[in-house]
Amino acid sequence: MTTTFTDETRARAREIIARYPADRSRSALLPLLHLVQSEEGYVSPAGVEFCAEVLGLNKAQVGAVATFYTMYKRRPTGDYLVSVCTNTMCNVLGGQEVYDTLTEHLGVGHDETTADGKITLEHAECLAACDYGPVMTVNYDFFDGVDPQTALGVVDELRSGGRPQPSRGARLCTLKEMAVQLAGFADERDGAVADGVPGEPTLRGLRLAQQHGISVPGFDPNTPIPSKAEADQAAAKAKAAEPAKAPAQPAAPTAGAGQPARSAEATGSTAPDVKAPDDKSPEVRAAETRQPDARTAVPDAPGTKVPVDGAPPAPRDAREAEAAGAASNAPAGDGKPAGDSTEAQDRNLREAESVTGTAASSDRGSQK
Ligand code: FES
Repeated sequence: MTTTFTDETRARAREIIARYPADRSRSALLPLLHLVQSEEGYVSPAGVEFCAEVLGLNKAQVGAVATFYTMYKRRPTGDYLVSVCTNTMCNVLGGQEVYDTLTEHLGVGHDETTADGKITLEHAECLAACDYGPVMTVNYDFFDGVDPQTALGVVDELRSGGRPQPSRGARLCTLKEMAVQLAGFADERDGAVADGVPGEPTLRGLRLAQQHGISVPGFDPNTPIPSKAEADQAAAKAKAAEPAKAPAQPAAPTAGAGQPARSAEATGSTAPDVKAPDDKSPEVRAAETRQPDARTAVPDAPGTKVPVDGAPPAPRDAREAEAAGAASNAPAGDGKPAGDSTEAQDRNLREAESVTGTAASSDRGSQK
């Protein structure tokens, strides 16, 4: 390992892992990858090795995850990751023009960093703010409705040491500082956390619906939203009342392995029935999808279809049949694959010749 991660990083790694059940520690991989990125600025081979070491995984497993998500960088990044959305909505509103202008101005292309190490530029797919398009983010904080000139102003200010204020959210921090937050640690700096109300572009659809009297049938917008304590209390109450509402009859066999589905009538719910969990293995599920009428029982799959027109053979019968088959096709003593001996081949040939005359014999001669 080329990097020795700091004691603080190691302590934080332990804290992250402790957030998960002991037998589910591999679930800590995503925040751990952000953590190593917060120290090195990207997920280096050493970072991969560190995650593998603390989680008891192998490097291939960690690498497979780290290379899947675009937020984990595979090369050293600048202090500020500038992402310009060039997806459909932003593109028709000028996103590509913003990206092209920045590329030319900074002299870098996608996933490249300026020589001063300040800015890494990337074009991004939808940044989930289409209503504010075209958008760009700096270390995942939004600048809404940008045009080439405002985008240039943002990057120039960043390169000269300033910290421009995003359209929404907290003030900017560096990518390493952001990675600490993404690993699940609060940023204690002043102004690091922001709150706000939905902006007008987000509310535009709602305003139009109100203006035209469009509403969801039966929906009362004044329905109170319960607090967490109230919701917990209601859930506990519903659970306590559950046995009295349980169906008297056993559940239908299609409900799934030991998990009978509760009907909407039984639960008092107006929502559609929820199916019991599907605990079949992925292989079985894939096989059933490909061949829904297959009648092969798979022993490790509760609920798998079983033959409908006959019982499967008893295990003892199956073993005897297997043994008989093996005895009649013993492996060749010379290490060659099992098959007919030379004598058997000659015998078969003579039998064939007796049926077809001499054709088989002459064929065989031509093969020699
Ligand atoms: S298309 Fe740009 S944010 Fe959705």
